Amino acid sequence: MSEIRMVDLKGQFSEIREEVLQSFDEILGSTQFINGPHVHKFADGLSNYLDTKNVIPCANGTDALQIALMALDLKPGDEVITTPFTFVSTAEMIAILGLKPVFVDIKEDTFNIDPEKIKEKISERTKVIIPVHLFGQSADMEAINSIAEENNIYVIEDNAQAIGSTFKFDNGTEKKTGNLGHIGTTSFFPSKNLGCYGDGGAISTDSDELAEKMKSIANHGSHRRYYHDRIGVNSRLDSLQAAVLLAKLPKLDSYNQSRIEAADRYDELFAGVSELTVPFRDPRTRHVFHQYTLKAGSHREKIQNQLAEAGIPFGVYYPVPLHLQKAYSHYGYKSGDMPVSEAMSAEVLSLPMHTTLTAEQQQIIADTVKKAL
Ligand SMILES: Cc1ncc(COP(=O)(O)O)c(C=O)c1O
Repeated sequence: MSEIRMVDLKGQFSEIREEVLQSFDEILGSTQFINGPHVHKFADGLSNYLDTKNVIPCANGTDALQIALMALDLKPGDEVITTPFTFVSTAEMIAILGLKPVFVDIKEDTFNIDPEKIKEKISERTKVIIPVHLFGQSADMEAINSIAEENNIYVIEDNAQAIGSTFKFDNGTEKKTGNLGHIGTTSFFPSKNLGCYGDGGAISTDSDELAEKMKSIANHGSHRRYYHDRIGVNSRLDSLQAAVLLAKLPKLDSYNQSRIEAADRYDELFAGVSELTVPFRDPRTRHVFHQYTLKAGSHREKIQNQLAEAGIPFGVYYPVPLHLQKAYSHYGYKSGDMPVSEAMSAEVLSLPMHTTLTAEQQQIIADTVKKAL
């Protein structure tokens, strides 16, 4: 049996090897490393996939968030509501632009931001909500969009962990995450559901006006070389990464299906284990299992020790919610402010999850977890 890894990208590479190497050869021969045809073709392909009018490729998912926020003409001190139970990028980009991150606690079942608690935090200065579709499952976009509409607030979806997920609204419309708010941002970090072989990211929107602005911001605030209409950044997806993504995009749905099947097998293996809670699946969304995250209650440490002893990798996403991170202490949050996020930080445990995880490997992982209980 092959080694159990948290993320295993080798299987995918062996399937797309020929295509990727051929594209690399073309790109190296043409020397169009930046802004070449592969980048445009991928942007068109992703816009087709997400069914959004515009996709702007950029250098990574963190930049995507920054560029999206920069396009909204916000003023220092304007408030951006987001979750503290996420990767740091989400809040980092709010803070770096001089805006104020306003954290709202999560729901215990989905780990996603709690719309009821968003309502309590809306103020005159609230300009944006950034829901994160954590671990591969859409946040409650029905409720979030309706709060945003009522209060005239932008919604930026942080879709870094959920590309290919969907959300079905009460009126029956079903759309992909990244096409549910005003702007969607995503990351192509190698371990993501759609990952390249370096860094990459993209922004999606149906608004042509926002798209034009964001395109310019990603390119030093410029539409025409050496003429700068606004202050921007330098954030590009390069041609080599675009070639990898072009090879993978047609397979994204089947990659996600493999993750869902692996999650189904884990669910079966843990059925009836009263000490553990398997991931909740909101019936309105397609959970694409960027992570398979158990709630292990007070048993986490025992399980971690057992897995470590057996040489099986695991992850804790996230051990400290953002409102309690040192870097964010000046915003004045204290322990107890976000009780659900804090409790989840102490309980969650993510198991190996990737597209080539086998039933045999999962049996071993589950046996090891159960042995600890
Ligand atoms: C929720 C979330 N947002 C943003 C990012 C940032 O993406 P990147 O690493 O490409 O900058 C990540 C990636 O780790 C993420 O998980």
